[in-house]
Amino acid sequence: MSYWPYPHIVAHRGGGKLAPENTLAAIDVGAYYGHLMVEFDVKLSKDGEIFLLHDDHLERTSNGWGVAGDLTWSDLQRVDAGSWFSGEFKGEPLPLLADVAQRCREQGMMANIEIKPTTGTGPLTGKVVALAARELWQGMTAPLLSSFDINALEAAQAAAPELPRGLLLDEWRDDWQALTTRLGCVSIHLNHKLLDEARVSLLKAAGLRILVYTVNKPQRASELLHWGVDCICTDAIDVIGADFEP
Ligand code: G3P
Ligand code: MG
Repeated sequence: MSYWPYPHIVAHRGGGKLAPENTLAAIDVGAYYGHLMVEFDVKLSKDGEIFLLHDDHLERTSNGWGVAGDLTWSDLQRVDAGSWFSGEFKGEPLPLLADVAQRCREQGMMANIEIKPTTGTGPLTGKVVALAARELWQGMTAPLLSSFDINALEAAQAAAPELPRGLLLDEWRDDWQALTTRLGCVSIHLNHKLLDEARVSLLKAAGLRILVYTVNKPQRASELLHWGVDCICTDAIDVIGADFEP
């Protein structure tokens, strides 16, 4: 079996629904609830800094405006990524990947780095993120890199082949086996709605680990783990805790 030191439960976007997504505060909230692993989304600024943000655009999760990847880090670091969520998080900045690595080190948390390139920047983002992750996570459990962007995964594979990779799919693809083999993936990361017990068996028989997102009901998490799913990525970080028993 391939390298797989990861726990059964992963806090989605840092702190699930309890904190502004993809911030250091979110990672702290995830840690406060006892989680051992966080998932977060990364992309590049115009001048090549790696930072956390889900969308291409800034509007939904910050007081910024426009395509984040069109801005330099000196502009992005002034953005408030906390107030949209609640006053308690006012002034929470967009974090750099380097600061997140440091926070994971301090909190003793493992990481699933989802490479979420700004549209059209897949290869560059995959390469830069993989090279940075290799340096920043030295001495820690290797971060699990994942992406919906096949070009980004290819570039990550070429740049840092030793880092574990997962193929993200939001729709079922019949060529999943050829694709995960070509990309050297240890895992496949699926919308949980795509799975039934037969598909779990099929994927497991091919030697893949399975991560599912975003599972917020304990009963569904339990069912998936019983079928053999390895990892549940959840927004309900207070309900589906690190010690969740299926
Ligand atoms: O990596 C799992 C999950 O985060 C993928 O979807 O849109 O929440 O990044 P999304
Ligand atoms: Mg994500």
